Amino acid sequence: MPKEEMFGCNKLHGNNRDKWQPKSYKLTVRHNELFQKYYQGLGIVPDGEWDQFYNHLKESLPVSFRFTGFKRQSRVLLNIIKTQYFEKLVDIESEDGKPIQPLKCMEWYPDELGWQLNFSRKEVRNNTALEKLHKFLISETESGNISRQEAVSMIPPILLDVKPHHKVLDLCAAPGSKTAQLIEFLHADENKTIPDGFVVANDVDNKRCYMMVHQVKRLQSPCCVVVNHDAATMPNLRMSPDSPDFVSYDRVLADVPCSGDGTLRKNLDVWDTWHPAHGPTLHGLQTRILKRGLELLAVGGRLVYSTCSFNPVENEAVVVDLLQRCEGALELVDVSEYLKGLKAMPGLLTWRCMSRSGDWYDKYEEVPPKLLSQLRPTMFPPSEEITKQFNLNRCLRVLPHHQNTGGFFIAVMMKKQQLPWLRQIAPTKDPFLKGHKFATDNSTEKKQDDANISQSKTDDGQKKLPEEVSGGQSKTSEEGVVIEKTNTEVVSSDQNHNSEQVASSEDKNDEEMPDKSGGDSNASAVPQNSTDKAEATSQEKRKLENDRNQQVKKKQRTMGFKEDPFLFLKETDEVWPPIQ
Ligand SMILES: C[S@@+](CC[C@H](N)C(=O)[O-])C[C@H]1O[C@@H](n2cnc3c(N)ncnc32)[C@H](O)[C@@H]1O
Repeated sequence: MPKEEMFGCNKLHGNNRDKWQPKSYKLTVRHNELFQKYYQGLGIVPDGEWDQFYNHLKESLPVSFRFTGFKRQSRVLLNIIKTQYFEKLVDIESEDGKPIQPLKCMEWYPDELGWQLNFSRKEVRNNTALEKLHKFLISETESGNISRQEAVSMIPPILLDVKPHHKVLDLCAAPGSKTAQLIEFLHADENKTIPDGFVVANDVDNKRCYMMVHQVKRLQSPCCVVVNHDAATMPNLRMSPDSPDFVSYDRVLADVPCSGDGTLRKNLDVWDTWHPAHGPTLHGLQTRILKRGLELLAVGGRLVYSTCSFNPVENEAVVVDLLQRCEGALELVDVSEYLKGLKAMPGLLTWRCMSRSGDWYDKYEEVPPKLLSQLRPTMFPPSEEITKQFNLNRCLRVLPHHQNTGGFFIAVMMKKQQLPWLRQIAPTKDPFLKGHKFATDNSTEKKQDDANISQSKTDDGQKKLPEEVSGGQSKTSEEGVVIEKTNTEVVSSDQNHNSEQVASSEDKNDEEMPDKSGGDSNASAVPQNSTDKAEATSQEKRKLENDRNQQVKKKQRTMGFKEDPFLFLKETDEVWPPIQ
């Protein structure tokens, strides 16, 4: 019986597959030609390690779990595992007679609370010590003291560095395994029954939200609310009807939908369905979700962007696009020393794109007109000079053969200032929202910037490290919001006329209607510094896309004019007051 079937998982693959397969079931061939061509061509695996990487992908994933609940309780369980089981598990052999280490602590997981199993059911049947351990793990899982979770999926919540007073937003949260971890971090202070912070767990899929409710209910925390929205247009939240400000979050997790090729070891379908156009189809949505997450993040706050995909189009390309658009308001945090013992590859500084049929394109300019809707400018890297300036190598790519895990990508970001497109927008005078200040309100923004500046300096005026800045609660979080957990109000998107929402829609419009996006006269201005340069490149990219799309669209336009139903005005526009 394969390892995945431990703890009651019934997937039919592994050594005994033939015996268990229904006759009509087609066995998955664990090979994909284009996958090999794509990732070998991109060089995501260090020289000489490709065979190891690919062979690991073909093997079943070992079971991993972590101790849940309050730390004191976890430590008791950990002690039981170590004293009653671990020491007795010596001289164990695998089915093919090789010695195995059946239980392994994942050294990078804090406080030794993450573990990996390395034995099959057959091996359990042949060894009494293993059988006892197996029964113990099952009963502790049923009672909620142990959570089975893929090892790599445990990384993003740890890097988010959640403290008990933090306001946390999990944008794509279902089925909720990372949300559970976030809630546990919130309850880390054993002296406080109810922490000051909370987690808002969101997912667009209603059914998956119900699964998540089931998952988080097990933890019995009063500090979590589950909401069901499209994360790309995630509404603002007010703590109570009288609360002047909308919530800006100290921590945001954007564990976005992705092509999932890092999960090939457990999702065998991906071997059959993988093709190079999967990444590009998700790039736009991933960018919009990350952008909205950054808008909702407090200045001084931390955001983790993660996918279970190896693909730079879904990873580095999304991250660097936002870094460029943010004009220095955002930076990648160096987390290389954070999880001691975790082996991960640095983010790529350059890459190429591939069409569905397997043709490579080094630059957007090379993409033929028929592929313009498939491959967009932001999927290509900016110059290596720019990716270096943005420290894109601070991203992490976990490869399966390095620690016998799945594949994963993680980028940790810190918001240093208010985002440029939110800085320019004046406070709304919408009578419906009269009296309410917004996260984009100049005064709030200044308060946030002041808070950031004061928090960024130590008593002796030295600049603090990003971790130190993001570790504390931002001033806005402390002063700007009245916390009334029992009366948390979600403002629905159609009520929500505030400028952040407009900015989001504006951007979405930009992405989907490229003919409106390239008219910036600054696009060809000579860049003054690295951020200007990066921004100029970003604008040039949009202009280029605009020009190319104009050429393609001209032909379509002769067939009839497609009216744009939306017109987005800046609130400073002189036509706005009478309309308002
Ligand atoms: C990688 S899974 C998240 C896994 C989850 N974070 C966990 O650890 O259990 C991606 C999730 O994104 C959700 N999703 C897809 N599109 C979304 C959108 N536009 N807004 C919010 N959630 C979305 C999917 O329903 C799916 O549950």
